[in-house]
Amino acid sequence: MAGSFETVGVVGLGTMGAGIAECFARAGIAVIGVEAGPEALTRGRGHLEDSTGRAVAKGRLSEAERSEILGRVTLTVSLEDLADADLVIEAVPEVMDFKRALFTDLDRICKPSAVLATNTSSLSVTEIAATTGRPGRVIGMHFFNPAPVMRLVEVIHTLITDDGLAGEVADLARRLGKTPVTVGDRAGFVVNRLLLPYLNHAAVLLENGVATRDGIDTAMRLGAGLPMGPFALLDLIGLDTSYEVLSVLFRESHDRRHAAAPILRERVAAGLLGRKSGGGFHRASEPVAPTADEPSACLVAVLGEGGDAFAARLSAAGLKSVPVEDAEVVVALSSVPVVELAPGLPHPERLVGLHLVGDQVAEVASTALTGPEVARAAEGLVRLVGLVPVPCRDRAEFVVDALLYPYLNDAVRMYDSGYATRDDIDTAMRLGCGYQTGPFEKLDELGLETVRDGLRALYAEYREPFLAPAPLLEQLVAAGVRSFRDLP
Ligand SMILES: NC(=O)c1ccc[n+]([C@@H]2O[C@H](COP(=O)([O-])OP(=O)(O)OC[C@H]3O[C@@H](n4cnc5c(N)ncnc54)[C@H](O)[C@@H]3O)[C@@H](O)[C@H]2O)c1
Repeated sequence: MAGSFETVGVVGLGTMGAGIAECFARAGIAVIGVEAGPEALTRGRGHLEDSTGRAVAKGRLSEAERSEILGRVTLTVSLEDLADADLVIEAVPEVMDFKRALFTDLDRICKPSAVLATNTSSLSVTEIAATTGRPGRVIGMHFFNPAPVMRLVEVIHTLITDDGLAGEVADLARRLGKTPVTVGDRAGFVVNRLLLPYLNHAAVLLENGVATRDGIDTAMRLGAGLPMGPFALLDLIGLDTSYEVLSVLFRESHDRRHAAAPILRERVAAGLLGRKSGGGFHRASEPVAPTADEPSACLVAVLGEGGDAFAARLSAAGLKSVPVEDAEVVVALSSVPVVELAPGLPHPERLVGLHLVGDQVAEVASTALTGPEVARAAEGLVRLVGLVPVPCRDRAEFVVDALLYPYLNDAVRMYDSGYATRDDIDTAMRLGCGYQTGPFEKLDELGLETVRDGLRALYAEYREPFLAPAPLLEQLVAAGVRSFRDLP
């Protein structure tokens, strides 16, 4: 059936539309690209020529293939030229009024059998469909940026989409060499609904002074193994876009997790939008951070589970640990806050928590009593054993787990609501975000009980409903299920 899409219209040839047009043309499909006016059309042609030109320069396309691809794209400023298209996908700006006006026109112009698709990231596909006389033929086809490179396409069907259409559009996406994930019409679909709340949570931790911008970015990159830290990613996506998506999520859910952190709103209002405006959380003109402090030694005592192994690493680096009474720094290896240990120590101000995350990062947690020079000395010790220190406050689950576990919890709730399958959620997050593992693979890797316990600790500290373990997670742990792979 996907073979019936032989001529495709693309409306709006900006960042996404030009890339989408290229995807169809590469798959041998005739494309009619429509822009709002002659100048925008010239820009759109430029995007197509530049993108395919880069592919030739990188040896991914031959000159002949490039000419064929460009030859399949007809450019116009008249929507009327879409009368015979089998499918029209729009990629005009993310403004509901623009989309509604456009779909009203397309509905009038396009043949009755044509499918009308939107590349919207966050608007309601149902609402867009309802503006037409053919709501059953309207669907979401959400590509990722850059469209020619990113393999994921979220196909969004509504309650009134014709039976079988989502499957046909998913087949079409496969014909483009993409991996489709088919879901219903919920704000943010899969990727944005899981990604943006995590990014927002990182902003909340920054706002609360749990760790610094660079500490959080480093912890999530080196500790959680993500391709990019949350603030670098917010800058890449655009703070304004992120704020908009969060607002749409919040309007639908009224969940505090989706309420944009004030620090995000403040930056958007100040015009600090991210890379496109020269800076967001990171500034383009910002002085290069001073090189990290040198590793340093001091009289150290090591406590806690895993303390012996850490003491052995210090010893291998030439530093013997001492009894607590003689120590300038007392490090307590722990995955939970350490302040409870402080009253039992001769010098509570010398205590820091140390949480090793993966094999590259150690979170260095200062309690309310820890002296700043003690925290710095502990960071020096961490460097001495070849790890990157991430200074943070002594809060439940510190940094990496505090960000990771609620994201995994969101994925469990999404699956439990019947919105998407576990495989589709994993695929969407791997392909859409470049993660090595999807959330369910990650849950299995970490252990369901570990994540459940971490969430309980977060909930006990902050009392935010979204931090309470998802009922399904509680039930699986209670039933002794160790892995989502063991479920039918
Ligand atoms: N940028 C991303 O990373 C990204 C990713 C996925 C989805 N999206 C979605 O894709 C859509 C487009 O985003 P973008 O980033 O490509 O925007 P953009 O601003 O780069 O491009 C929009 C284009 O639409 C054109 N346009 C506006 N009104 C038009 C009309 N009536 N007829 C024809 N052309 C018209 C503009 O001239 C512009 O070239 C939005 O819905 C957005 O949410 C964006």
